[in-house]
Amino acid sequence: MALPASFISELKARLSITDIVSSYVNLKRRGRNMIGLCPFHSEKTPSFTLYPENGSFCCFGCGVGGDIITFTMKIENLDYIEAVKLLAAKAGMSMPEDSYYDDSIAKLKGRILEANREAARFFHAQLMSENGKAAQEYLMGRALSRQTVVRFGLGYAPANRFALSSHLRKKGFKDEEIVAANLAFQKSGGKGIVDRFSDRVMFPIIDLRGNVIAFGGRILTDQKPKYLNTSDTLVFKKSANLFSLNNAKNSGLRTLILCEGYMDVIAVNAAGFQNAVATLGTALTSEQALLMKRYADEVIICYDADEAGQKATARAIEILRNAGLVIRVLTVPDGKDPDEFIRKNGDRGQAAFKNLIESSGNDVEYRLTKIRLMHDLGRPDSKAAYMKEALKVISGLDSVIEQDIYCSRLSEELGIRKDAITEDLNKLKASKRKDDYKKEYKKVSDNLVGNNEKLNSERKQNIRGAKAEEMLIAYIFHNPDMLKKAEELISDKDFVTTFNLRFYQYISDKIKSGLPPDLSIAQDFTSDEVSRFYYIINSYNSQTATVAAMKEYIDTIKFEKGKLSKQDLADMSAEEIMLSMKNRKKPKP
Ligand code: UTP
Ligand code: MN
Repeated sequence: MALPASFISELKARLSITDIVSSYVNLKRRGRNMIGLCPFHSEKTPSFTLYPENGSFCCFGCGVGGDIITFTMKIENLDYIEAVKLLAAKAGMSMPEDSYYDDSIAKLKGRILEANREAARFFHAQLMSENGKAAQEYLMGRALSRQTVVRFGLGYAPANRFALSSHLRKKGFKDEEIVAANLAFQKSGGKGIVDRFSDRVMFPIIDLRGNVIAFGGRILTDQKPKYLNTSDTLVFKKSANLFSLNNAKNSGLRTLILCEGYMDVIAVNAAGFQNAVATLGTALTSEQALLMKRYADEVIICYDADEAGQKATARAIEILRNAGLVIRVLTVPDGKDPDEFIRKNGDRGQAAFKNLIESSGNDVEYRLTKIRLMHDLGRPDSKAAYMKEALKVISGLDSVIEQDIYCSRLSEELGIRKDAITEDLNKLKASKRKDDYKKEYKKVSDNLVGNNEKLNSERKQNIRGAKAEEMLIAYIFHNPDMLKKAEELISDKDFVTTFNLRFYQYISDKIKSGLPPDLSIAQDFTSDEVSRFYYIINSYNSQTATVAAMKEYIDTIKFEKGKLSKQDLADMSAEEIMLSMKNRKKPKP
């Protein structure tokens, strides 16, 4: 059963999409609409547009669209019912009885979170018990205070591979729920389940609402794998979360310290810096960068000094820059990681680390230093090569003032006239501008033409027809009075793509029953489909289109539908082909 349409309509009427979106995106008014930097992909010029009049948004950069509900789903990573619940709470409305909707997924998610919370309690109690002696000693050996252990809720997964599962069963959790939480897995071949984590120190991963969403577990010895992490579950996506962001968010700073591992974050915290975070066993993603952007303006990259760490730093700079974050790079001396560095400095650890933070340079300095180290500036050819590489970095800077500063430095350093350097820089910038423009243009046009098409599989075969359908849908959405006229001219069988036909049928049903042609009350569309719908209705200038334009869309659809595929031709006799050619109507130019 679906939620009553009247409930959703009231919810939408009570909430302002502008208010909701503004709490995540910095919006500026442009005419009747609002624009801002898209929260769903990295961009420097705004292509995210909000349409308060029809309560929807769409981004021409990444092709997402939607209404207040799909926005909430995407930004908070929730399913439909969860998003509606969150919005209903904001609107001060109570949810209809749950017999109205299927919330089995939401319920399972709730159970997974409860199982995780219970597991965290269990692991922590185990660590503090006789059973956890070795783990306690291990943590002491790594200079963790009891206070830190409690603050991070660290724990110990016993060596017995049934310990957690049987504890959770006693607490009323079903095997399926324990497996869905990835706390155990099905025994291969046989019956029953086995714990995923055993004989490891456990690090709970906590989201911004305080839920335990996953775990990392470290082995006490030098065996491998050193760390084991929860795989993705219904409540956890590795690539979209950060360890300790829940603590960092409360630091009151708009700066984050990005570390490589759990132990680094904990050591940096213990040294007095609450704003440390780490990825969860994978390289940094642009999703994580966008998440950081919500809580910070600046990120200090604090990776290991080894080669892998330096490679990861170069990658992270790229990703964080694209998300519009200011970057500093902290280099830990003597090839240590932050945890080792702080520990080695003993009582002075905190001051020494603070010193490193304060002396950390920005990412441009970091990159220029790296490049300089690769060239022997005593040799003219190397000098030229260095300048070429350095200019590549400088040309990527957004601020002309910043560019000028580094050109001056290069000039002094290399003993080359500054105007010569600037001239080279300008050439490079011009060609880069062209490339960037081409890339941006391609992205937008790919979205419009549907080259990244996955939802509407028939679109590629007949882009002209599919586009005309979309224009017709957008036109009818904005001019519901014209549905009658359209229906005189086109029927379902004329549509080129069944995907677009579903949208058309849906809005025409709504209009005929006197309801707004609003897709979020239709639970037979997936959130990606809803997203596409809003992208379509906002992509074309159909608000101002005329009836003549509508007729043209319809003619085009019919003409395209009338085209014969090669297979059709092969199956037809010569007379049939002639006949069908004669009946084909040409669209107006
Ligand atoms: P490191 O190997 O740098 O470990 O991995 P570390 O953080 O210094 O750990 P300690 O100090 O030896 O205890 C960095 C991060 O990479 C992930 C973990 O998130 C770890 O914190 N990792 C590492 C894994 O997921 N699996 C592994 O086997 C190793
Ligand atoms: Mn370490």
